[in-house]
Amino acid sequence: MKEFKRITVTAALPYANGPLHIGHLSGAYLPADIYVKYQRLRKRDIIFVCGSDEHGVAITIRAMKENLSPQQIVDKYHHLLKDTFQKMHIDFDIYYRTSSLLHHQTAQEFFKKFYDNHQLIEKETYQYFDTEKQIFLADRYINGTCPKCGYENAYGDQCEKCGTSLSPDELIRPKSALSNSVPIKLPTKHWYLPLNEYQAKITQYIDSHPEWKNNVLGQCRSWLNDGLQPRAITRDLDWGIPVPLKDATGKVLYVWFDAPIGYISATKALLPNDWQKYWQDPETKLIHFIGKDNIVFHCIIFPIMLMAHGDFILPDQVPANEFLNLEGNKISTSRNWAVWVHEYIHDFPDKIDVLRYVLTATLPENKDNDFTWKEFQQRNDSELADIYGNFVHRVTTLLHKYYDGHIPDNIDLQVIDIQALEDCKKAVQAMGNNIENFRFRDALAEMLKIARIGNKYLMDKEPWKTFKTNELQTQTTLYVAAQITACLALASQPFLPETYLKLKQILNLPDYDFQNFWSSNNTFEILPSHHQIDKPFILFEKIPDEIIEQQIQKLQQTPKSHVMLKPFKNNIAYEDFDKVDLRVGTITYAVKVPKADKLLQLTIHDGIKERTIVSGIAEHFQPEELLQKKVVFVANLEPRKLRGILSEGMLLTAEDSDGKLHLISPFGEPNNGSIVK
Ligand code: 2FM
Ligand code: ZN
Repeated sequence: MKEFKRITVTAALPYANGPLHIGHLSGAYLPADIYVKYQRLRKRDIIFVCGSDEHGVAITIRAMKENLSPQQIVDKYHHLLKDTFQKMHIDFDIYYRTSSLLHHQTAQEFFKKFYDNHQLIEKETYQYFDTEKQIFLADRYINGTCPKCGYENAYGDQCEKCGTSLSPDELIRPKSALSNSVPIKLPTKHWYLPLNEYQAKITQYIDSHPEWKNNVLGQCRSWLNDGLQPRAITRDLDWGIPVPLKDATGKVLYVWFDAPIGYISATKALLPNDWQKYWQDPETKLIHFIGKDNIVFHCIIFPIMLMAHGDFILPDQVPANEFLNLEGNKISTSRNWAVWVHEYIHDFPDKIDVLRYVLTATLPENKDNDFTWKEFQQRNDSELADIYGNFVHRVTTLLHKYYDGHIPDNIDLQVIDIQALEDCKKAVQAMGNNIENFRFRDALAEMLKIARIGNKYLMDKEPWKTFKTNELQTQTTLYVAAQITACLALASQPFLPETYLKLKQILNLPDYDFQNFWSSNNTFEILPSHHQIDKPFILFEKIPDEIIEQQIQKLQQTPKSHVMLKPFKNNIAYEDFDKVDLRVGTITYAVKVPKADKLLQLTIHDGIKERTIVSGIAEHFQPEELLQKKVVFVANLEPRKLRGILSEGMLLTAEDSDGKLHLISPFGEPNNGSIVK
């Protein structure tokens, strides 16, 4: 294996359009953090960079939903994300943002270099344009019927019902998600990176990494087999990094073009004079930690950008994880099926390490995995409390009970004692080896093994029995057990940073060179004889069933959308209901109310005459599509004036969990005026 001088570690830049959930942690951030913490212990020259991904349609959509500007949205979530990472002890060297000036410049320089070197294709294509809002529509902003399954609310890039990837052109009856109007096609110019020209080089590059994970190689090969196509790296959007050309007003860089460059900008911000070493020196190992949905961007597209640029090294490893599910279902932000990390921190402020531990133990390293609250409880109780915490507690209490908290000095190591110490040292080495090879679950198991070795050792030696009969042996046993405890503390650092700090306090842990586990041939001594330890306290409490039940209930009560389901109203008497005169009618005319975004003026035939109803449905229907539709309306509502128009009744609509309105229409063909009850 090639020896590297230094390591650059990146973790996917999360979109600043929502909080972190446990799937994010287990996909990329936790394994990256463990890797980095370990390498820092080994005194490797390493940097760990990340930041918020603040551009793209995802941000503008969230801004519309929350009625804020895109800048307000990224400010809000950038700070929440940063704070959450910090509280989970994901210790980046820098957590940057792609809205920063330095990043804008860096991304524009990339584009400009490609442009100036004639590495881009300029192409005019016809794209959907919203005449009402006067903008070109990004794929996500176009809704329509899925050509595969008939689902009526498919997006221009994907049908969420059947999962098919789509292009806006394939949608049947496309509509603008911004205005609900029917978009027209207009020509627009964009710049494309001809990925196809790099097909051979990138194939060779992927082939030179047979050590990559199978899930990663599989996705790369399937993309390469399909053949690479030129890919647009600009968009018509008013949020993003402006395309740095004169004739490009209203155009920005595509978010997936600028985001990975964000890793470089973050490094520039961290090391203004030294960043090149970490990106351009072939003796640097570049590692991208990501989730599986980001594989092609990091293994194919970004490497092509780096190749095209010419000054940069290519990623050496991309240890992408699969997905973490939650209680048997896919984590879904829109359905709010998630354990939000900031909420966990709020609910379990003293259990940061427990979440780190359980997520590491269940990382979806090779296939999707499931997080359940029961397993969370079970691993806390039977692994952290019963094995880890129990061992530490026994050793430290015995040391206090027999030796006033001092490490014994009169010792005589026998084979069994040396064996226990050597087994621990081997576990630390195996842990390191697993981390180096991105097997974090196995690495964690090796860490816990140290506590298991300690527990077994105590059971074999029974110092509480020998105390009365054999002073030398008891002293030896507790000396060795104390070393094992200290070894466990040191090995916990990459996984359980808070527990390490607690143990450091309890053991009054002196500085110890972690390298010694590799460099020295002898068994280790971390706590010398006479060393005084502090008072023990409980490291891991068991978690009561009620607490777990509460979390499960919280999940199940979560409305399946961000819109809260309103509570049902109190019962009423039939007589009260009967006061409402509900009738069937036909819409014969519909027009927008001038200067009122939400209102339509409708004419409804009620069976006897035509009446006017003003209805707040303009954002959900085009006037034309309502003509000749049968509807249900309240016929005896006190008439009232809306925007100067007398409204004689009210249309019935249903508001779904996404806030979309649907008209209530009769099934069948009742005459106008028919009574509804
Ligand atoms: O999928 C995502 O959440 C993207 N924001 C990841 C970007 S990774 C990198 F390229 F910055
Ligand atoms: Zn479909």
